[in-house]
Amino acid sequence: MRLDVVSIFPQYLEPLKLSLIGKAAEDGLLDLNVINLRDFTNDKHRKVDDTPYGGGAGMVMMPEPWGQALDSVNSDAEKRPVLIVPSPAGAVFNQQMAYDLAEEDQLVFACGRYEGIDERVIEYAQENFRVIPVSIGDYVLNGGEVAVMVMVEAIARLIPGVIGNPESLVEESHSDVLLEYPVYTKPASWRGREVPETLLGGNHHRVARHRRDEQIKRTAARRPDLIMKLDVDALNRRDRDA
Ligand code: ADE
Repeated sequence: MRLDVVSIFPQYLEPLKLSLIGKAAEDGLLDLNVINLRDFTNDKHRKVDDTPYGGGAGMVMMPEPWGQALDSVNSDAEKRPVLIVPSPAGAVFNQQMAYDLAEEDQLVFACGRYEGIDERVIEYAQENFRVIPVSIGDYVLNGGEVAVMVMVEAIARLIPGVIGNPESLVEESHSDVLLEYPVYTKPASWRGREVPETLLGGNHHRVARHRRDEQIKRTAARRPDLIMKLDVDALNRRDRDA
């Protein structure tokens, strides 16, 4: 997968070179490009923002550097790659979006700063990209860079080969509606706290049942909103197969 991130703070994206995502890039599974928006300015101050028409606080990102930057990263205008615009005004990012985006050949991320990007850039981009404004939650960040790191990590780990053991993707939180069950490792007794008895025995069916019950308890306590979405039939089928 090709990933292009356009930002005025390319250094902000450096952590993407670390850990599993960095290794995936080294292994050729990801072609990660971080592009400095200021490289598409023509003045000596490399200006990317200006005052808003109609007045108001703050600055707005100018259209021309964005127009040039987006033209430069579009690998195939015919195919209209996905352009993600991180914004608190976007649709809220979730695991299903991560699965869908992990299927794409190219993702472009446009990191806005200040009060946002001139709206005509978004309109123009729609000609050559499938534009998706995305929020990572109902709070306001100073810019899109941190949101991009969150999304890239969630998406890239779903690309085959990025995670050593793909089994670990199957039972994690949000892979179905339920949150993940609690996990334990050795020693079986630690500071007077015991690992649940069922997990010490080798009965796979009982272990699966125990974990399922823990998932339901945890989800009900922490995310009652998710319980409403639970597909009980699917859960029963999974239990029968376990
Ligand atoms: N930029 C500023 N706040 C944001 C948020 N919550 N999600 C995505 N991008 C943002």
